[in-house]
Amino acid sequence: MARPASLSFSNLISISLCPSTVQSQNLIADNVSVVEGETATISCRVKNNDDSVIQLLNPNRQTIYFRDVRPLKDARFQLVNFSDNELRVSLSNVSLSDEGRYVCQLYTDPPQEAYADITVLIPPGNPIIESREDIVREGNETEITCTSMGSKPAATIRWMKGDKELQGKSKVEATYDRMFTVTSWLRLTVMREDDGVPVVCIVDHPAVKDFQTQKYLEVQYKPEVTIKVEFPQGLIREGENLELTCQAKGKPQPHQVNWVRVDDDVPSHAVITGSDLFIENLNKSYNGTYRCVVSNSVGETYADYILYVRDALTTTPKPTTTTTNTISATTSPPDILQDSQAGPEAQRLDHAVIGGVVAVVVFAMLCLLIVLGRYFARHKGTYFTHEAKGADDAADADTAIINAEGGHNNSDEKKEYYI
Ligand SMILES: *[C@@H]1O[C@H](CO)[C@@H](O)[C@H](O)[C@H]1NC(C)=O
Ligand SMILES: *[C@@H]1O[C@H](CO)[C@@H](O)[C@H](O)[C@H]1NC(C)=O
Ligand SMILES: *[C@@H]1O[C@H](CO)[C@@H](O)[C@H](O)[C@H]1NC(C)=O
Ligand SMILES: *[C@@H]1O[C@H](CO)[C@@H](O)[C@H](O)[C@H]1NC(C)=O
Ligand SMILES: *[C@@H]1O[C@H](CO)[C@@H](O)[C@H](O)[C@H]1NC(C)=O
Ligand SMILES: *[C@@H]1O[C@H](CO)[C@@H](O)[C@H](O)[C@H]1NC(C)=O
Repeated sequence: MARPASLSFSNLISISLCPSTVQSQNLIADNVSVVEGETATISCRVKNNDDSVIQLLNPNRQTIYFRDVRPLKDARFQLVNFSDNELRVSLSNVSLSDEGRYVCQLYTDPPQEAYADITVLIPPGNPIIESREDIVREGNETEITCTSMGSKPAATIRWMKGDKELQGKSKVEATYDRMFTVTSWLRLTVMREDDGVPVVCIVDHPAVKDFQTQKYLEVQYKPEVTIKVEFPQGLIREGENLELTCQAKGKPQPHQVNWVRVDDDVPSHAVITGSDLFIENLNKSYNGTYRCVVSNSVGETYADYILYVRDALTTTPKPTTTTTNTISATTSPPDILQDSQAGPEAQRLDHAVIGGVVAVVVFAMLCLLIVLGRYFARHKGTYFTHEAKGADDAADADTAIINAEGGHNNSDEKKEYYI
């Protein structure tokens, strides 16, 4: 009987010794990160509790809670849950001085401990962004600085230009009381496309979300120049008027536009109004390169227009066409000119045919009227004067008819000729 007793005793010892290492895993506590001023919750959890007493100690090993009793006179600690399996305590309005290792203790033999490290996060102040120059010239390098101050832990700074991520250079400085100031420098060479583009400094920190500030790039650049032909459209012919407009965009916006002719003088009667060049009544001696020169504080740019004056449209003069027609033809826009180049002869032919037909119809009607008139007159005559006057009338009527027929024949011939 003694053997089994001793066996059971050794078993007991082995049970009580072994579980002490196993049991240490039964008491669990989690680390806590909390933003300054907010509330931290410390939870001591026990698996398979055998009614052992549990308590929570602060980093100075003072008892905060012993079971559900709080000996510590700090009302910021409040019991959230007390049961056989858990002691949960909240700490409100956390400050940096609350940081440290809190201890959960289980009164077993030997006592077990688990640790909850409270880390206080201090968000950085608003990031400050500054650029070395307010306005940068295109092609030049500029430097932008972003500073995130007084955070714990140190923040990290990222940069974006528009939607493109850029690489800056950062420096971390520890300040008083375990706080950090981070400064990042971004160097970039700017182009004209960067004008108005935001450069964003993004501050990443566990205590803040979407923390960023931005600065818009201001880039000065040389003017961009284009020449627009206001008129004429299409080919340019002698006698036409030419109007060119010089369009310039730059930063700062150029306000001075100069028109020159390369290797020659601008025609003396050319009119320059602001950015417009107007030349009346072109002739071939004005052929050449017309240059619009624009400058601003960054530099000078020009655009060229090559004038190539072609022969005036020669409309084959017809006996019917008047001089006013040809003048209007040469001064009218080229697109209309091109139509009228093939058009006039056909049109004039059409007009002649219509005119001829109308003339024939009118003439025929006149003849008919005359014939009818004569007919009625003769009948009236027969009534009153019988045969004596009839002969005279007949002779007249005959000639009239002959004339009418002759006229008719002529116009018929004309008609056929035109068709
Ligand atoms: C708690 O934080 C400490 C450092 O402060 C670390 O050594 C430990 O492993 C952490 N514990 C857990 C459970 O994450
Ligand atoms: C404590 O937590 C347990 C489970 O985790 C829950 O059943 C109980 O209701 C909680 N008690 C209080 C007072 O919140
Ligand atoms: C929080 O704590 C600070 C000191 O750490 C104190 O000045 C402040 O009044 C407290 N706020 C609240 C709401 O208790
Ligand atoms: C741009 O850079 C040039 C040298 O590359 C310098 O001379 C000039 O002053 C710079 N301009 C501005 C506006 O910074
Ligand atoms: C062209 O214009 C110039 C100057 O206006 C003039 O001297 C010249 O005679 C003109 N030529 C023709 C063919 O009209
Ligand atoms: C101008 O260009 C036309 C081409 O349309 C050419 O015939 C003419 O010879 C040129 N005149 C001069 C003076 O270059």
